[in-house]
Formats: sequence, structure tokens, C-alpha cells
Amino acid sequence: MRTQVAIIGAGPAGLTLGQLLQQAGIEAVVIEQRSADYVLSRIRAGVLEQGAVDLLDRAGIGARMHAEGLVHEGIELSFDGEHQRIDFADLVGSNVMVYGQTEVTRDLMDARKASQATTIYEAEEVTVLDFDGARPKVRYRKNGGSIELECDFIAGCDGFHGVCRQSVPPGALTTFERVYPFGWLGILADQPPVAHELIYAHHERGFALCSMRSPSRSRYYVQVAAGEKVEAWSDDAFWDELRRRLNPEIAEQLLTGPSIEKSIAQLRSFVAEPLRFGSLFLAGDAAHIVPPTGAKGLNLAMSDVRMLADALIEHYVEHSASGLDTYSAKALQRIWKAERFSWWMTSLLHTFPETGAFGRRIQRADFDYLCGSRAAQQSLAENYTGLPD
Ligand code: APR
Ligand code: PHB
Repeated sequence: MRTQVAIIGAGPAGLTLGQLLQQAGIEAVVIEQRSADYVLSRIRAGVLEQGAVDLLDRAGIGARMHAEGLVHEGIELSFDGEHQRIDFADLVGSNVMVYGQTEVTRDLMDARKASQATTIYEAEEVTVLDFDGARPKVRYRKNGGSIELECDFIAGCDGFHGVCRQSVPPGALTTFERVYPFGWLGILADQPPVAHELIYAHHERGFALCSMRSPSRSRYYVQVAAGEKVEAWSDDAFWDELRRRLNPEIAEQLLTGPSIEKSIAQLRSFVAEPLRFGSLFLAGDAAHIVPPTGAKGLNLAMSDVRMLADALIEHYVEHSASGLDTYSAKALQRIWKAERFSWWMTSLLHTFPETGAFGRRIQRADFDYLCGSRAAQQSLAENYTGLPD
């Protein structure tokens, strides 16, 4: 088997890249270790920057997002009972789209199926080979047989635990990591959201977030200690804890019910540099992780694949290597901006067991500064709604 670009991973990064290449007449095969149903069962992020919305429009899959997605012109921050709205429309003339990653993935899968592009689901023992030379290959097992796919380039879109980054010789990669001493316990429930906009709440018991997927489906999170097990949290225990962390007038409005999904995600900042090794390119969670507080994970994956797709199109159409040569440095500039913003939002809003009373006063001073400074609010709004390249 032979193709031009072998894409490892059918998450939003891999599928969007596949769609953009397909539109440019470049052939790609997507190889995914899980089933399509499994990929769609993962509940992930839900906020799209304008740049991500534009990219999905360019990929030709924006129709349902525009019909069903919710345009938000601000977010609410609350700190020990005081609150501050960040008015995106007024501060930076922009907004975000609330539309679940699961739905983005479903739209991309439907488009891929309609175009009859090849996606191999449930590929086992995926291995990437010879990417330091001109003839890279991907080997995998399917239905008991071993298959080898030759290609010009490999796009490593296989997430944080994927095989691509791990296949790079250790000396060729520098990694930067911060693991936070807590996770987010998230719940999805078929109940109307408690408010029209997202609420990010700092409370001495820990951070809480009120988000949504639609006017009738809510997504809520509470900060929990590292190592906590989801089995230890009944739905009632979750709702009680969430209520305690919200302002009383908001807590009173909260509608609760059985969870459709409940899971814990550890918070982490991580970057691998560079993003290119010969003909292997990393994009999305394979290359970097941000804590979810700034809602940047999916958006960063989208901006990586926009740059990578443009670089590959430049290679095939204009026969120029310049886009591929600069992909890593260009993408990393934006990645570090998102890392900084996500780290800052996380630092402001969570309870850190090790920083004590001094740390809490600094957080309070940071929040007060934000409330009193239009420039600080503008900076938050600018970073949240869309980082520049
Ligand atoms: N071979 C093939 N596929 C693999 C392998 C492998 N060895 N390892 C992992 N995969 C697949 C996973 O099953 C998954 O479907 O790669 C895909 C990676 O998808 P995501 O984890 O969703 O990563 P990405 O597409 O980069 O999207 C980033 O996901 O975690 C969120 O917040 C993050 O919203 C951001 C988005
Ligand atoms: C979500 O809806 O899942 C969500 C929203 C905003 C975030 C993180 C997650 O910052």
C-alpha cells in the first residue's frame, strides 16, 4: 500500500488534517487504533476560538456547528463570591463558539466517510519506521494480518499517549512538563445549564467550572486532589461539592440529575520540541498538553494542523519546502503562548495545596488587578478568544 501522507490518529487533529489535504487533492490514509464508536465516546473540550471555527468552515464541515453551536460573547469569573464578567464583545470585539469536540469529530468522520477517503480503525501494533530517510513507512496489524503503508510523510496526530512521539530517538527530543497536584472531575448531565455563559469559580475548597454542550445539556467540573478515583464520587456527592463552590444565588439555580458521563482528568502542561524529525511531523496532543482551564487544547490542535496542512500543500503544489522547514518553529511560538495563558488561568483559579496563605493572597491580588484593569481584562479576552500566530 502507498499514500502521500499517513496520518496516525483519528482525533480532531488527524481528521481535520485529512480533510484539508483531501480538499487540496493530496491523498492521505488515517490509521487509528480504536474504533470510531470508541473515539466518539470520549467526552472532551467544548470551546472553539474564531480561528478554529474558520478552519472547520474551510474544511467544509461547519454547517452543523453554525446551526447547533452556541456563540458566547463573554465568560464569568468568580473568586470567593465576587464576580467579574469578561465581555469579549466589548473588550476585543470577538466571541467563541461552544460546540463539543465529540460533535466536531462526528462531523469530520461523516465528511471523511462521504468522500470515501481511507480510514483504518482498530489498527493494532501501529509502528512508524524509516522517517529519517526519504521512504517512511507505517506498519500495523489488522484482522490478524500485517500491513505496510509506504508514504512521503507521517503526521503524528495520535495524542499524548501515541506511538509517534515515542518513536523519536530520545536524544532528538526535548520535553518540558509540569504536572499539577490535582485533576478535574467532570460530569455531563441532561439538564439546562445553570447560566447562559461559562462560569470559572475560584473557591477555597477548590476550582469549579460550569460549562455546557447545548441549551439542555450541561458540563460541570470540580477540582479534585491528584489520585482521586471517579468511583469514589457518587452523582450526589458531585452536585453537593459543586454547589458549595458556587455563589449561593447561582447554586440555588443549579438543576441536577443523573450523570451521562463522569470522569477525572489529571492537569498537566507539556511541550515536546521540535515538532519535526525528518519526514515525521507531530501535531495536537501528541506534541503538547495544556491544562483545560484556558480551553486551549482543541484550539491548539486546530492551529497546528492548519499550519501543517498549509506546509504540505506548499510542498505538493508549489514544490517548496519552506513551509515544512518552518512548521516546527512557527507552531511552537503559538503553542508556548497557549501554554503561558493556560498555566496562568490555572494558577489564578485553583487551590494549590503547597502555596499556603501567601499563595492565596497573591491569587486574590491577581483577581483584584484583573477586576480593576481594562488592559488586564483585554489581555484575558484576547488570549481566550483567539491567540495570534
Ligand atoms: N496508533 C493509532 N492511533 C493512536 C495511537 C496509535 N499508537 N495512539 C493513540 N491513537 C489515537 C487515539 O485513539 C485518538 O483517537 O490517536 C487519537 C488522538 O486523538 P486526541 O487524543 O483527541 O488528540 P488530538 O487529535 O491531538 O486532539 C486534541 O483532544 O485531548 C483533547 O484537549 C485535547 O481538545 C484537545 C484534543
Ligand atoms: C468544557 O465545556 O468541557 C470546557 C469548557 C471550558 C474549559 C474547559 C472545558 O476551559
